[in-house]
Amino acid sequence: MPRRKLRKLLEVRTFENVFDAKTENVEEKLRSYLNNTDRVTLELGCGQADYSINLALLHPKRYFIGVDRKAARIWNASKNATAKETRNVAFLISYIEKLDEVFKNIKVEEIWITFPDPYPRRSSIKKRLTHPRFLEVYKKILTPGAVVNLKTDDDTLFEYTLSVVEEENLNLIKAVNDLYSEENLSEEEKIRTKYENQHIADGKKIKLVQFTLD
Ligand SMILES: C[S@@+](CC[C@H](N)C(=O)[O-])C[C@H]1O[C@@H](n2cnc3c(N)ncnc32)[C@H](O)[C@@H]1O
Repeated sequence: MPRRKLRKLLEVRTFENVFDAKTENVEEKLRSYLNNTDRVTLELGCGQADYSINLALLHPKRYFIGVDRKAARIWNASKNATAKETRNVAFLISYIEKLDEVFKNIKVEEIWITFPDPYPRRSSIKKRLTHPRFLEVYKKILTPGAVVNLKTDDDTLFEYTLSVVEEENLNLIKAVNDLYSEENLSEEEKIRTKYENQHIADGKKIKLVQFTLD
């Protein structure tokens, strides 16, 4: 393993805004860091957490948690949040599949799924973050009426998510095939992530799906 990555892996769990799902009482520790809030917004597969950090800057009175299984990416996220002096955002090293084991008392009021791996092969369909297996996890942690937002460049994942919304009888709020051709985007919709910027540079169209699970 490259030395830089090794250093990140050794250091990341010492950062005050980083929590590991495997730690005992992790929910209580997160709550304590986030001013004892009982409501948070999650960014799933956050990478360097552009959404969590920019949402935290837009909404200083709300609380945000970026989740990623890769600790080295959370290192970057934590450094970025510290540089922006955002005290209302924390990071959780966790598998998204296991979030219902973390969030028992804190309720999730919104989810952003930002440019997840699309898993185009049918054999990997269960890994898509809008597969019903993941929706079951989200259902357990979301407040009633909470919005799930998916941003992607991937046509297959976009169409797949719309089919899941229909088949599972979910409530579709918005589905846009080319977000930046729309007028009057919200400040939240306009946030761009690292991967998003790469896709835009490659000439890809950015898609957005918003739905609720009830
Ligand atoms: C393509 S990157 C996107 C990163 C960031 N959201 C962005 O737009 O720049 C997808 C991220 O999702 C994370 N990820 C994928 N599946 C995951 C899972 N099941 N649990 C936790 N993180 C996951 C990966 O580690 C990776 O950092």
